[in-house]
Amino acid sequence: MRNATLWLDEEGQAIQAHGGCLLQYRDQWYWYGEDKDADNLIGCGQGDQTPFRGFSCYRSPDLVHWHRMGFALAAEDVQEKEGVPPDVVGERPKVVRDPVTGRFVMWFHLDNRAYTLARAGVAVSDCPEGPFRLAAVRHPNRKDVRDMTLFQDPEGGTWLIHSGDWNKTLYIARLDDRLTDVTGLYAKAFVDQEREAPAALYWKGTYYLLTSGCTGWEPNTLLYGQSRELLCGWKLVADPCEGPGCRRTFGGQGAHLFVAGNRPYLLLDHWNPGRLRLSGYSILPVLVNNGVLTVPWRDEWSGLEPSPLP
Ligand code: GAL
Repeated sequence: MRNATLWLDEEGQAIQAHGGCLLQYRDQWYWYGEDKDADNLIGCGQGDQTPFRGFSCYRSPDLVHWHRMGFALAAEDVQEKEGVPPDVVGERPKVVRDPVTGRFVMWFHLDNRAYTLARAGVAVSDCPEGPFRLAAVRHPNRKDVRDMTLFQDPEGGTWLIHSGDWNKTLYIARLDDRLTDVTGLYAKAFVDQEREAPAALYWKGTYYLLTSGCTGWEPNTLLYGQSRELLCGWKLVADPCEGPGCRRTFGGQGAHLFVAGNRPYLLLDHWNPGRLRLSGYSILPVLVNNGVLTVPWRDEWSGLEPSPLP
């Protein structure tokens, strides 16, 4: 698959899994994301949008051949629920598996078209492909939620990492045991730095957060931050991208960091603002050497790279 272009599923249809995430379960990969398969709305709120159709799920044995499983969470299962505005917008769904109950839990940015609500939707399912059921609309720690991700810390806990305070600051908030609410434990990172599109990684004793700047659908500079602890000590370090277009994230924006075959990878969206349904993707390897993180450009995504030497 050619990076930075539209990707097709097994049926030859454009993959609709924008702002998404990848989850490995048993011997399969699941890709969840925004289904934007509709014409852009004209003149609504801030910037270009498509009507909310729901979040799709695709399944693959190899991260290259994708089979559409349908909607993981369909718009009908969100609309008209308590706390959901009539002009609902759902973005950046992230799914984790609760290791205790075996249930799959999805958090996503739930908003109205003017982006003034800034809440999190929480949905649960017994099966990875759904159907997910909306369980709650959260206002975690009374902070607004815009771009967000979930992070299962190998050192303990699952965390909601979200842009708040009108995108000025990033919040890292601990989820409760059932992963459907916050506990009240949270910290700020990158205060007043205006970072969004967070993607998190723990690698050999260090935490990394990749974020974009706030320029809507337009690409800007990816930056990584690092810390030895999840709740404090965060520093923005550098632009990790290497290759043509690196100062503008190769024309993309981070969606998710995932580990496969003992290597980290970054999933990017390549937004097409005028025709969002035609937005593309890239998957790029993430290299970490002595605490320095780089994301080199690759023209093609053809599956996992060989495992590094131990
Ligand atoms: C971007 C954000 C996207 C979407 C878009 C709307 O900044 O990363 O997820 O919210 O703005 O303009």
